[in-house]
Amino acid sequence: MFENASWITHPNNRLHEPVRFIKEIKLNGEIKKATLNITSLGCYYATINGQRVGDFILAPGFTSRKRVQYQEYNVTKMISQSNKLEVVVGDGWYNGKINFVVANDVPKALICQLDIVYMDETKETIVSDSSWLARKDKLRFAELYDGEIYDSTYEDAPVNARLLDHDKRIIVKQQGVYVKEQEKIEPVSIFKAPNGDTLVDFGQNLTGYFEFTVDAKKGDKVEFTVCEELDKFGNFYNENYRDAKARFEYICHDGVNTYKPILAFWGFRYIRVDSFPCKITKDNISAIVVHSDIKRTGYLDSSSELLNKLFSNIIWGQKGNFLDVPTDCPQRDERQGWTGDATVFCKTASYNYDVEKFFLKWLTDMRLDQGKKGNIPNIIPQTVCWDWSTTENTGAVWGDSATIIPYQMYKTYGNTNILKKQYKTMVKYLSYIWNTTKKRYLWYGCDQFGDWLGLDAPAGSYRGSSNEDFIASVFYYNSAKIVGEVSKILGKDSLKYDTLAAKILEKIRKTFKEYNTQTECALALYFDIAEDKSNVARKLDSLIKANGGKLQTGFVGTPFLLHALSKNGYTETAYDILLGEEFPSWLYSVKQGATTIWEHWDGKNEQGEFWSKDMNSFNHYAYGSVADWVYEEACGIKPQRAGFMEALIEPKPTDKLDYLSATIETRHGRILSKWYHENGKIKYEIETPVKATIIIDGKAHLVDKGKYKF
Ligand code: BGC
Repeated sequence: MFENASWITHPNNRLHEPVRFIKEIKLNGEIKKATLNITSLGCYYATINGQRVGDFILAPGFTSRKRVQYQEYNVTKMISQSNKLEVVVGDGWYNGKINFVVANDVPKALICQLDIVYMDETKETIVSDSSWLARKDKLRFAELYDGEIYDSTYEDAPVNARLLDHDKRIIVKQQGVYVKEQEKIEPVSIFKAPNGDTLVDFGQNLTGYFEFTVDAKKGDKVEFTVCEELDKFGNFYNENYRDAKARFEYICHDGVNTYKPILAFWGFRYIRVDSFPCKITKDNISAIVVHSDIKRTGYLDSSSELLNKLFSNIIWGQKGNFLDVPTDCPQRDERQGWTGDATVFCKTASYNYDVEKFFLKWLTDMRLDQGKKGNIPNIIPQTVCWDWSTTENTGAVWGDSATIIPYQMYKTYGNTNILKKQYKTMVKYLSYIWNTTKKRYLWYGCDQFGDWLGLDAPAGSYRGSSNEDFIASVFYYNSAKIVGEVSKILGKDSLKYDTLAAKILEKIRKTFKEYNTQTECALALYFDIAEDKSNVARKLDSLIKANGGKLQTGFVGTPFLLHALSKNGYTETAYDILLGEEFPSWLYSVKQGATTIWEHWDGKNEQGEFWSKDMNSFNHYAYGSVADWVYEEACGIKPQRAGFMEALIEPKPTDKLDYLSATIETRHGRILSKWYHENGKIKYEIETPVKATIIIDGKAHLVDKGKYKF
């Protein structure tokens, strides 16, 4: 592909300034098939005769800088005898600002190839080359964090495109899932804030953009700035976006102006209308939600409205952050593939949606960006901003994305392909720890993130007070165990890794004799480190009770806390935490009006004051990982064999809810587990598409596929 095509650019390429490439194409004869193969350095938006080609938003997506994906579109129906192919290329992840650094070493560029097959089977190919024209676009400015400026009155004279000498070997076939428009949301209200600002509220913190229509005069302006939350007075607040300006500006032409952005996205619930040619109403504006086109597979429902809102917030956290890569957040000046966040959320993610293909692509980038010594950069794909492939710094949990995520995808979907592809990366990752640790058979003395954002953090720190060497060593053990298991699955010798895991376990037990925090206890129980589990479980329960029945855990402890409790006889304590409404808890944020998952338990206090402007995202999915406890423990659905070839269904009901149900659309069909109270008894409805072991009140029932009531 692209043998005869060239990278082309604008001779005067300027930062953040999109370029429009234009090619007039005359064809002779009836067309059987037309295919456009295309990609860019930066993000592109292509049209043929004014009609959009394909529906991939922000194509060609976010990958390691070692590769760019190309897309193939069937454009047969869009082609006629005389055509205008136009492609706008703006900033993106290859070229543009990433976090705090600008990638401008290579100009924005386009490469494409239009293949025509005529009815008589003769062929013609049109490629990007110096015959193309380039001009500055009406889209005067486009940038992922700062937004767009579009001047509908602007005209620039075209010049000849310039050839760009850039390696074509980085071009690969599309591997990921397209990012697409998913739904349209109407405003729930448009109102004046106490300070006089006009605000549009969509009632939902979402990721995407907006579409508006307005009858205007030439030169009239539309200006928006977005935010997620209002301050305690009810005024616009977006200091938590930090350096992301999150703005939009549009200059109207005479008549009706309809527009939606093409090369930017925002994370927002509210729009501040900084200018609009007339009074803005619900008829003028709507929001468009965009995310990777993954299929919804999991549903949770309960008798508690607050809990159902939490379930909804978890889904919205996933929608908002599955934008070609799993991002930490969609609003501030980050929006990066932070590996730790994805590690703790991947199980929930894989039950909520079918994310196998999504992660396969991201893990391929991990493979490409893994450091020479085996370290896993803390964000994948690597960008110019944080080059961790050379600093050789990997944090536990963040780095363990290399083992935990592919293994989870295998467990949920049953496909060994992802394990085969990632095996070397896993093995290299283990050798990185082996070579950097300061104590043999532990992961010790290295720079770590610890129990990130744990509430027991010492003043001024983001790291909870749990022992960082203990956390790192537990995850080292877990990764060694996973590599041992994966070796067996792939028919390779596992002895080396089984032995390594056994030695790490022995050393952890010798070195860390006490577990002093909620996170330490939860990890010791969940990962089978504790030798005397009942004692440790009792301690965990008492630590929670001593803390008023509330959690103190951060990114690392939280995903395992409820599992550790319910697996060790403290299911009711787990429910107390899940259903707790006071700070800190999941339902506290729901009661504060959250529509997504917050980065911090204390993102906003009861007085409506914000924790900090520094690191305070209201759409960070990590704590949404609690959903996997509801699927696996509360409703009890687990894969007995990888990919749910066989299921284990062991619900753990409580009197604290009238009913709870979970369904997962597995690769073999739908699993349902529902329990409810009726006439003083607990009833169960279970549906399985495969053989299953159903455990009710400690009694196991081996069943074939079918519907069962207990
Ligand atoms: C991100 C997190 C990430 C963390 C690690 C933050 O800035 O938003 O979600 O995992 O950094 O240090």
